Formats: sequence, structure tokens, C-alpha cells
Amino acid sequence: MSYDFQSVVERRGTMSAKWHMIAEDMGPGNEDVIAMSVADMEFKPAPEIVRALVNAAQHDVFGYDYVTDDYFAALEFWMHRHHQFDIDASWVRLSNGVMPAVNSALRAVTRPGDKVIIQGPVYYPFTFAAERNGLTIENNALVLGDDGRYRMDFADLEHKAADPRCTAIMLCNPHNPVGRVWTADELRQLGDICIAHDVTILADEIHADFAYTGHEVTMFGTLGEQYAEHCFEFTAPTKTFNLAGLACSNAIIRNPQLRKRFDIAVENIAGLTVSHFGLIACQAAYEHGEAWLNELMSVLDTNRALLRDFASTTPGLALIEPEGTYLAWLDCRGLGMTADELRDFMRNKGRVYFDEGALFGRGGEGFERVNLACPTVLLQQVVERVGTAIAER
Ligand SMILES: Cc1ncc(COP(=O)(O)O)c(C=O)c1O
Repeated sequence: MSYDFQSVVERRGTMSAKWHMIAEDMGPGNEDVIAMSVADMEFKPAPEIVRALVNAAQHDVFGYDYVTDDYFAALEFWMHRHHQFDIDASWVRLSNGVMPAVNSALRAVTRPGDKVIIQGPVYYPFTFAAERNGLTIENNALVLGDDGRYRMDFADLEHKAADPRCTAIMLCNPHNPVGRVWTADELRQLGDICIAHDVTILADEIHADFAYTGHEVTMFGTLGEQYAEHCFEFTAPTKTFNLAGLACSNAIIRNPQLRKRFDIAVENIAGLTVSHFGLIACQAAYEHGEAWLNELMSVLDTNRALLRDFASTTPGLALIEPEGTYLAWLDCRGLGMTADELRDFMRNKGRVYFDEGALFGRGGEGFERVNLACPTVLLQQVVERVGTAIAER
């Protein structure tokens, strides 16, 4: 390994929301609790990115920016090389985050009172975005098979999409928190239903750079022209390279009408801006980050195996094997606790702060979302703590 993925970085007191949240929620005296919640990583960024930031800090002037051709070239290169996705810079809109862009896209294609489909349990800000925009949520609930794999319920999707008040769907691929990398067939099926009923697809692909061996992420726009014309795609290198605090993301909108509506929606909420450092870091990540990402994937794979072994040897637990993302969905229903009991047990007895499954909506109760993006020694500590708490209960 040429990069450092094993040193534990002390993030308490460094403006980390993930670690601060423990003090906020649990109060003083809980400094020993380990943060496993928010989807950022316990790793410093690639030195190539840091160098670009230091260089900018030393030499640049921080006035208003425009997005350079070099940024777009780096993005196009990454999409082509990693996702066989040939995009044109003119389709892309930059913003300070995927969720601000998702919110703008929702405003662009829905009117208050419309219905929007989500596939729960799912990343909970989808729910907030729908509610904030005055939309009614239709949950096309994912179905957990006996094989431990979640699947989409297409019959239910067809039924919900057929409602004329239903105008959009928020798709998460790879799916946070259940870890599915949707296959091209699944995505095509979803796309066919949505296109037939004129439901616009908002594809959140922020986790697209994380697929484990045997799985391949299909960017929605690569399915074919009619699919690309019917969707917004949201990507960012901020998950991939742990740059979320620098707030920079891309909306890829091939359809010019959708793009126009998106631009109007953005202007109506006073615009979306990207910071100078966000642009510098994201461009450097696309240009120089591949080797770092390759090493990161092997660390994530080691951590996934560790959690798998732990779950398979601990009564009451089962791992929903993640196919993508650096998040793992741990089935704790066998412990026989209510959602509140499970949360309190993990925090107070296990001394670990997960994102509890119930946060992700119906079907999430009894699960915990585990963040695998940390040094293996830290995850080892987590499983030892949880294992001991379960053995002693
Ligand atoms: C599926 C998904 N979408 C969006 C985000 C947030 O992205 P951003 O910080 O760019 O708004 C996250 C962060 O965890 C996520 O998991």
C-alpha cells in the first residue's frame, strides 16, 4: 500500500459533524463512543488532492469563479474511464451538493401536491426533500428476499407510477443503505415503467464509484437515449474521495428541456454555488485519484469481510452483503429489540453510534447502518464492543 488507510485520525474537535453528533445527542461523558454513522470516511484525502489545495491556498485569489474547461475535461475523463459514460460538458450543472441539486430538480419537475416515489428504506434526506417541496411520498418499498438481497417491486411501481399525480421518482444507485448495485436489467425495467407514465427519474449516483468485485454500476444515462432523456443524474467525487466538506457535485442533464427547467428552478432559489476549493479538489480527484481509490477499495473489502465474519458468528445478527457503497446494512432483528431499544443498546452498551435503521423509513427498524470507511483497527474495535455487549446481555 502506498497510501495510509490504517492510521486512526482523531476527528473529535475538528468540525466533524459525525463525531460532534455524539456529544450533541448523548451529552458529555461519552467521548469513548465510536462514530459509525454519517457517510464520510475516517481517512485523510489523497495527497494529490491536498497538494492541489495547498497550491491554490498559496497562489490563488478567492474571487468569484467560473467552472473551467479543465474541470469538465477531468469529469468527462472520469465518467468515460470508470463508467463508460460519454457525457458532454454542456449537460452538466455544478452545485454545492447532490441534495441541493436534487431539491432543485424536484422543483423543476413537480408542483406542490404532486406525488414522488422513493424506494425505502432509503437515504432519509430524500424524504425531507419531498416534504420540503410540498410533495406526497409514495413508498415503492424494497423487498428483502430469503437470500438476503433486496429487490424492487415492479408491480407496485407500475401501480404507483400510473397515478397521473405522480411525477417523479428518486432512485438511489448504488442504494444507500441496503447496498444494492442495481443491474442494467432492473434499471431498464424501472425506466420503462417511468417513461411509460411520464415519471421523471432523479438518479442519485453519488456512490457510483463504489462497486465490489462482481458488481458493476450502470449509470442511468448509459441505458440508451430514451432513458437518458428522461432523467437527471447526480454524481460527485465527494463520497469517493472524502471531500464532502468541500461541497461540490455534478448534475448531468442530457435533456435540454429538463436542463432549462432545472436552471430556472435554481435561479428561483438564488442559485447554487460551488466553492473555489471544492472545484480544485474535485478536479484533482478526477485527474489523479484513481490509484488512491483502488487501494481504498481493497481496504473496504477487508472491512466488509470482517463484518461478514462477525455477523455470521454472532447470534441475532446477519449482514446484508453490500454490493456497492461503503455502507453496510446489518440485520439485528434477531436480537428481538424494538428500534428504540436497539439504538439505546448499541449506544449505551456497545458504545458505538450507528445510523439506526429506523431513520431510513419503514422496513429499516431492527437494522443498523455501519460505515465501513475506516481503518480496519477501528472496525475491529466496533465489532468487539458490539460482540461483548451482545454476549453479556
Ligand atoms: C445517496 C446519497 N445522496 C446524497 C448524499 C449527500 O450528498 P451531498 O453532500 O453532496 O448533498 C449522500 C450522503 O451521504 C448520500 O448517501
